[in-house]
Amino acid sequence: MIITVTPNISLDKTLIVENFKVGLTHRVKEQMAVPGGKGLNASRALLGMGYKAAVLGFAGGNIGRYIQNELTYEGIPYDLVEIKGESRTCYNVVDPINHTQTEILEKGPLVVEEFIRLLEDRISKYVSKETIVCMGGSLPLGAPVDLYVRLTNLINAKGGRVILDTSGELLKAGIKGKPYAVKPNRAEIEAIVGFKLDSIDNIKMALDYFINDGIELPVISMGKDGIAFYNKGEYLKVTPPVLEALNAVGSGDSVVAGLALGLDRGLPITETAKLGAAMGTANVLTLRPGDVKKEDVERILPKVEVNPL
Ligand SMILES: Nc1ncnc2c1ncn2[C@@H]1O[C@H](COP(=O)(O)OP(=O)(O)OP(=O)(O)O)[C@@H](O)[C@H]1O
Ligand SMILES: [Mg+2]
Repeated sequence: MIITVTPNISLDKTLIVENFKVGLTHRVKEQMAVPGGKGLNASRALLGMGYKAAVLGFAGGNIGRYIQNELTYEGIPYDLVEIKGESRTCYNVVDPINHTQTEILEKGPLVVEEFIRLLEDRISKYVSKETIVCMGGSLPLGAPVDLYVRLTNLINAKGGRVILDTSGELLKAGIKGKPYAVKPNRAEIEAIVGFKLDSIDNIKMALDYFINDGIELPVISMGKDGIAFYNKGEYLKVTPPVLEALNAVGSGDSVVAGLALGLDRGLPITETAKLGAAMGTANVLTLRPGDVKKEDVERILPKVEVNPL
């Protein structure tokens, strides 16, 4: 069974505004509001493959209810801990004339220890030896920096497997909990290791960073260049076909979904990595983050190659 955990779920609003300028009043040309966050996007991608993976996390206030209604409408199952305060809204102002994007991210509600414990209890109910947990993103205000370590410890203790996708201090702290897999993107791992992933040796060194900490399946996604991963003594690279991207946001989350699906199906690790890359690539074809179509994945998969790094 697969579940996803997104501690910092948001309502992502995209506003299309022509000739956007700071300090002026604008009318929105088009708008779209979609629930988002790493685990949630992975659940959306899994639904596209016909798999229902419940979204766990926090929701509060009217925006929290709106997010749950949208998830119901999309057919994505959820089991969110109700918190005091209002779930956050994140704004992305897209100017199609000047090709700019301006993001404004709300702080979101304060998540106190009482709610964290409720989330731990909620996750616990789902986890057994067969469970794969996709988890990631930023943390809400008030959450401890070691939240991912706590959650991973709990899941590991029950024999489940965690795929962690986060960045910066949260990733550095998170690997101490020994998730089964991690999936940073190129820029996120460069920020941690302090060197560019511009050669095969450097990519191997970046994978070593996780291997040395005992991570069984470190995966680094590299945009249109695909993914690099390590498993049982082998450094490998998965190359998807390059397609013109409509929106690449959520591609990494779709890779995580593909890895989870491969593990859940008991596929060999190379096939699992190929499925991850194919789902990441299928995501670039649609506007909504994580909106992966099974037909696209089936078309892309035979064109995905695996080679030694
Ligand atoms: N232009 C593209 N053409 C083909 N495949 C792509 C393209 N962009 C991304 N992908 C696929 O998606 C995967 C993940 O992309 P990327 O490394 O950009 O993720 P990310 O930065 O973590 O994304 P996000 O955090 O928004 O979900 C890549 O490994 C690749 O398989
Ligand atoms: Mg990512």
